[in-house]
Amino acid sequence: MQFETLTIAIENRIGILTVNRPKALNALNSQVLEDLEKAVEAIEANKEIDVVILTGEGKAFVAGADITEMKDMNADEGRTFGAYGMHVFRKIELSSKPYIAAVNGFALGGGCELAMSCDIRVASEKAKFGQPEVGLGITPGFAGTQRLARLVGTGKAKELIFTADIISAVEAEKIGLVNAVVAPDDLMQTAKTMAEKIVANAQLSVRYAKSAINRGSETDIETAMVIEQDLFGLCFATEDQKEGMTAFVEKRAPKFVTR
Ligand code: CAA
Repeated sequence: MQFETLTIAIENRIGILTVNRPKALNALNSQVLEDLEKAVEAIEANKEIDVVILTGEGKAFVAGADITEMKDMNADEGRTFGAYGMHVFRKIELSSKPYIAAVNGFALGGGCELAMSCDIRVASEKAKFGQPEVGLGITPGFAGTQRLARLVGTGKAKELIFTADIISAVEAEKIGLVNAVVAPDDLMQTAKTMAEKIVANAQLSVRYAKSAINRGSETDIETAMVIEQDLFGLCFATEDQKEGMTAFVEKRAPKFVTR
């Protein structure tokens, strides 16, 4: 599938989705958001892809929503633009497939929000994170106030958003915004190694676990435990559960088949 502002490659059941607008540091204009939505839908339907790595071309992951496009928006247009970005990012979050953000450089504003809509974040030592919107006269608009607060707690989220501070990858790891920080040259291999481990497991189990964590973290613990019970139960109706447990008993590696 061809896109104006993105590329998709497939390697060993891993989809590599690259935002490719490096002249504007991969800033998210309407075209990038539309391409991203179509790419996420195509990946969801593609039986050759189990796990996705999302990264940026050049020195930025994504330097935010496109300021040039937003500059002259009125209140209605701003709201609609924000709602569309949220809608696209929510598709990533709700995708049945795990997304790993390989954060190669600037992840600011909408770029930090995009990384946060992924399931796991691995960062290069060169990456920088921040929500600098209040310095532009706006708030975060692609759900940054919500996802950052959920990831790092309301106190740290308020500090980052109110000060517009840009933080290093090491600081981002310290506060729980990223899972790991690696040398720039090791970034893609680290993300791929993580993706390969996921690919080797039972895909339905991985997808059920993603759903349980996502849905459970948005509700009370009693309801969340029922969600887990239901999905745990459903696993026992799969071929992969029989195979996984039989392989354990027979002391051999499992061969999972469900995609
Ligand atoms: N929107 C539009 N264009 C952008 C952009 C953005 N968010 N970020 C960078 N660019 C463009 C620059 O205008 C520049 O274009 P020209 O070459 O045509 O002048 C090009 O990308 C390269 O950028 P710089 O020359 O500024 O590169 P730098 O290395 O000197 O600085 C930077 C890098 C610190 C990331 C700086 O570009 C910057 O501060 N960018 C804006 C970051 C930002 O404020 N992001 C939040 C946007 S608001 C948002 O995201 C709202 C939301 O929540 C939905």
